[in-house]
Amino acid sequence: MYLFFAFIIFVIIYFYHKRTTKFRAFNSFPGPPGLPVIGNILDLGSNTAEVLSNLQKYQKIYGDVYKLWVGPLFPTLVICDARNLETILSSTIHIKKSTSYLIFNSFLGDGLITNIGNEKWRKHRKLLTPAFHFKILERFLHKFDALGGTLLQKLDEHADDNGFDVFPYITRYTLDVICETSMGLQLNVQHNPDHIYLKNLVEYEHKFTMRQFSLIEKHKQWEIRKQNNEKSDAKEPFLDLLFRVWDNAEISMEEIREELDTFMFAGHDTTATTISFCLFELAKHQDVQHKILEEVHEIIGEDNDQFTVSNLSNLKYLDTVVKEVMRIYTTVPLIERAVADHLEIDGKVIPIGTTLLLFFYGLHNSEQNYTDAKKFDPSRFSSENTVNRDPFSYVPFSAGARNCIGQRFALLEVKASLVKIIKNFILLPVEPEHKLQLAANTILKSLNGVPIRIKRRN
Ligand code: HEM
Repeated sequence: MYLFFAFIIFVIIYFYHKRTTKFRAFNSFPGPPGLPVIGNILDLGSNTAEVLSNLQKYQKIYGDVYKLWVGPLFPTLVICDARNLETILSSTIHIKKSTSYLIFNSFLGDGLITNIGNEKWRKHRKLLTPAFHFKILERFLHKFDALGGTLLQKLDEHADDNGFDVFPYITRYTLDVICETSMGLQLNVQHNPDHIYLKNLVEYEHKFTMRQFSLIEKHKQWEIRKQNNEKSDAKEPFLDLLFRVWDNAEISMEEIREELDTFMFAGHDTTATTISFCLFELAKHQDVQHKILEEVHEIIGEDNDQFTVSNLSNLKYLDTVVKEVMRIYTTVPLIERAVADHLEIDGKVIPIGTTLLLFFYGLHNSEQNYTDAKKFDPSRFSSENTVNRDPFSYVPFSAGARNCIGQRFALLEVKASLVKIIKNFILLPVEPEHKLQLAANTILKSLNGVPIRIKRRN
């Protein structure tokens, strides 16, 4: 019996010693002290709003690189400075996702976002990149326009109200957009707000495409169109491209499904959040709305509703507005990596397996990078003011090999919807002033909605 206890104590001491030695450099980073075994789990907070504010609080106390022990098994290095972010994001080695992404595997499968960063990811990334070429994106613009028309009708029901939460309307719009553009599927949730997908997003997102249609059937239709030499019109561009690579046996049907589910997940909540926060800030800044409208009249024309990639890209002032909103309200507040190879941060070797929490929200809202960081000021992104800025101090779409594949699509969609809304409505703040309760869900969320008021412009 004594021998058994002695053995257990020996094993504990051995592993404790091994861990202390392995993590000596890691443990020398500053960070909240934490409790034995559970480390900093309780310090992080009990909900995603607390997590966001605590990560920021620790950044203020401990600086731009600090450690957290999330339980005994998850040493986590939080990084919020441009120099270290550049080291990690621009590397082709540190592309491995952390174990946190396993949660998404159950409903997205092993698509681009969740894949750990292996050969399959490399192959799929290469195969899918052409789907986001601007020539393909150009074909989506009429979808943005048509579905944007429905959005205007829905918003119009609230013209002259004392205020309403705009987020659900925008979410339904972006969901319709991603369904139509990625798989030619008319979900029509804008006309059907009780759609089951919206009611139970997480459960329903599980194998979304499988519930919606038969891929085999879609493939047959595509084959017929191909044999008839029909030009693949704008109906199903992402899906068409995937069928083409499937035909060449480069990807399996199951993998097509995983990537479509991934686009669904990555491609609507992100854009809905961004558009909603843009509307919220614009409602508070009449002068900014006015300048956008002037620019739209000049570049696109007062009576012209035809978007092109070129005229949307030439809306330079609008661009600065969207960038500033995505700085303050960083749509994806943090991402994670797992150290898979030799990595030095601030001269210290970080053990393999350590989680790197790249806190983009902290980077974007730090006074060191942006003076008066809380102030909404689009001029920060004018060409004169960005010349000398470190590109890694602004990474809303991440950067490097695993950056957002859909960023051009996203920006076109955000701009097209803002132009449509501003041309038709004057945006106003609700009274009394609404203070958003921001939370670091996977996507930044306002727990108490995004209310605005609108009036018809004419
Ligand atoms: C404002 C909108 C968007 C923002 C802010 C955004 C941001 C991001 C960020 C930060 C990442 C890196 C995630 C990580 O490393 O964990 C990412 C990856 C990704 N995004 Fe987006 N995204 C947006 C819209 C979209 C859209 C519209 C699509 C598709 C239609 C899309 C598809 C993807 C995919 C597939 C990845 C994984 C890329 C890879 O690992 O190779 N995103 N996005």
